[in-house]
Amino acid sequence: MPIRWTQDLTVGIEAIDQQHQRLFEIVDGLLAAMQAGKGRAEVSKVLDFLNEYVLAHFALEERAMQEMGDPNYASHKGEHDGFVKTIERLKRLHEEGGARTALVIEVNHRVCGWLRNHIAKTDVTIRDALEKHQGVVVSLAS
Ligand SMILES: [Fe+2]
Repeated sequence: MPIRWTQDLTVGIEAIDQQHQRLFEIVDGLLAAMQAGKGRAEVSKVLDFLNEYVLAHFALEERAMQEMGDPNYASHKGEHDGFVKTIERLKRLHEEGGARTALVIEVNHRVCGWLRNHIAKTDVTIRDALEKHQGVVVSLAS
């Protein structure tokens, strides 16, 4: 099933929303590559890119949360840290066994499922923090 960003997932900080859309595209590309039986090199390249992109993206969200004094910072960051470990584990699994069906199912569940759920349930709490901090400029220049 393709993974698509929808308007109701808006966090309210444009840079973060744009990265979420890009993340969905990357994950969609990863699934397509795996399902099309693309070589290990291709899947590995996408997994590496996803890993790098996710690290930069989480850093941006965490900086925004810190600047706003978001009370959910610690638990939110904990979810990010867990996801980074998941990607590292999937990369290892892929290196060891290639893009087997079991791995595709796991990527679907642990990456697509997690992202959808995290953005819809946790990232939207950034929107609440942002509303409480009306007037406070969050500087997100990287
Ligand atoms: Fe997040």
